[in-house]
Amino acid sequence: MNVLTKSLVITTAVLAYVLSPQAIAEFKYTPIEQEVKPVNPELIVESANHQFAEKYPKQYQTWADTAQSDAIDSVNVEDPRTVILWAGYAFAKEYNKPRGHFYSVIDVRNILRTGAPGVTGDTQPMACWTCKGPDVARLIAEWGEEGYFSGKWSKGGAEVVNAIGCADCHDTGSEDFAQGKPALRIARPHVLRALDKLDMSFDGLDRTDQRAAICANCHVEYYFAGDLKQVTFPWEKGVTADAIEQHYDEIGFTDWTHKISKAQMLKAQHPDYETWMLGMHGKNGVTCIDCHMPKVKGADGKVFTDHKIGNPFDSFNNTCANCHDQSKETLQNIVQSRKTEIKDVMIRLEDQLVHAHFEAQAAWNAGASKQEMEPALVDIRHAQWRWDYSAAGHGGHIHAPEVVLHVLGTGLDKAADARVKLARVLAKHGITEPVKIPDISTAEKAWAATGIDIDAEHKAKDEFLKTVVPQWDKEARAKGLLPEDKK
Ligand code: HEC
Ligand code: HEC
Ligand code: HEC
Ligand code: HEC
Repeated sequence: MNVLTKSLVITTAVLAYVLSPQAIAEFKYTPIEQEVKPVNPELIVESANHQFAEKYPKQYQTWADTAQSDAIDSVNVEDPRTVILWAGYAFAKEYNKPRGHFYSVIDVRNILRTGAPGVTGDTQPMACWTCKGPDVARLIAEWGEEGYFSGKWSKGGAEVVNAIGCADCHDTGSEDFAQGKPALRIARPHVLRALDKLDMSFDGLDRTDQRAAICANCHVEYYFAGDLKQVTFPWEKGVTADAIEQHYDEIGFTDWTHKISKAQMLKAQHPDYETWMLGMHGKNGVTCIDCHMPKVKGADGKVFTDHKIGNPFDSFNNTCANCHDQSKETLQNIVQSRKTEIKDVMIRLEDQLVHAHFEAQAAWNAGASKQEMEPALVDIRHAQWRWDYSAAGHGGHIHAPEVVLHVLGTGLDKAADARVKLARVLAKHGITEPVKIPDISTAEKAWAATGIDIDAEHKAKDEFLKTVVPQWDKEARAKGLLPEDKK
């Protein structure tokens, strides 16, 4: 590049920076340094779930029964505030409650969030497959982390086809497993690295802690680090909402710039493992397995592990009742009342945040400067992070209700700070009336208010599901990754 074009480029960049309200200098991302694991031929991951059906019929059948939890509940429709809170980010298009493990690959393909690769552009990083099944661990071993994470969906579409399954949790090639023992294993290098950050190296854990750790393969907070978009858990300072927020602030990480307020936002994933650890059961060594995968008696009278991971109340006598004397109704009522109480505070925080986003927009429109806005925008970032940390772990009301309530309380405090600061900025620019919020009483209205063309999204998605996906599955069947008879 010659000197003239170089200085032109710089001038344009500076101009764009000055003119664009999005260029808030506060958080500038510097990725942490970390290992990028090379190809690992020693790690064998047998990812095709169907090959275990015959040898382990009880575990296989109960695992397959996770398909019975098939309801799709849209969070955006149930609570249209979420469309505003995630404006400018794909979660605003479609976000559903979790359902059975059986659906993990199907659901990530179906959801509007992942777009229509191969129809409207191949934009999804491979990282989006990472918590969907055992093919991921296989591919990371075969291609190395660089080869895996650097790809887009079209690279892995015909490879990531098995739902969360046996090789996600077991060393299926081991002698122990052949003898019917669990041989628990974590095969994803980024998960092993994350546990090391907590001084909880997987191999050094006792059997109880290993059981919980296998759920930490996926039920955790993570982000896509650096240009490689390497899945990384932000546990440098610990697992609390405060510790993770502090780490993200220090490295300047931002998931997206909010479309309405222009705040630099964080999106929480599903910190179930983290909140469980901090809660009453986690602190007492009661693990995910004690409640979600109890030991049960088979028709042959032999005890085995129930692999139908779902709501532990469905199997009350084998779960809660092992340790508690109360009736099912009593415990269910306790859990339900906590859910109601938490939901109530959560919605209050959402309302505060919705107002804060629109008030920030009004302040920008009234001519507020970046410098004036920054303190309030940082409060919005922190308040919404706290909301999301509490909301994204769906079982928070049983796993750690007191932790979730505290995090939500601090979120309300931050949201209040943001709104006080915004009120001052607005007043300074002559706006003293309350800022009006558009009608967002339904998801349709909220999508329209934030410029999402939901019909176009559905159309592209349908095309992708009709044309691209059958081709992927066909290739996968030819490779033996899926059984021949699968529709
Ligand atoms: C999400 C993790 C997870 C998945 C997926 C999973 N298992 Fe397991 N499995 C476990 C846990 C946890 C145990 C019990 C460990 C313990 O007792 O310490 C277990 C136990 C076992 C055992 C030992 C005997 C028993 O019943 O306790 C076998 C065999 C087994 N699983 C087979 C399978 C097969 C086959 C699949 C795939 C169809 C599968 N598992 C999928 C977590 C999983
Ligand atoms: C490989 C990643 C992965 C692992 C390992 C994993 N999960 Fe999940 N889990 C998911 C995903 C993804 C979903 C949502 C699936 C969907 O909605 O399509 C889910 C859903 C769930 C649900 C909701 C089920 C329902 O019917 O609503 C529960 C409960 C759950 N997981 C518990 C566990 C427990 C306990 C463990 C450890 C024994 C575990 N999971 C291990 C990824 C994983
Ligand atoms: C003390 C028992 C207990 C322990 C320990 C426990 N859970 Fe749960 N979990 C539950 C119950 C009960 C529910 C359902 C709450 C309800 O009915 O509203 C639940 C709900 C969930 C959900 C949400 C399911 C949905 O469809 O919304 C996920 C995900 C989950 N648990 C994962 C985990 C993971 C991962 C761990 C360990 C890190 C864990 N749980 C530890 C009892 C437990
Ligand atoms: C392996 C044993 C074990 C299992 C299984 C278990 N719990 Fe607990 N639970 C405990 C222990 C230990 C405590 C800690 C307090 C105590 O000592 O009573 C506790 C505390 C509680 C508390 C009161 C603490 C609080 O959060 O305020 C509730 C409520 C509770 N459990 C509900 C459940 C439900 C519901 C299930 C089934 C989904 C369940 N537990 C399964 C052992 C267990």
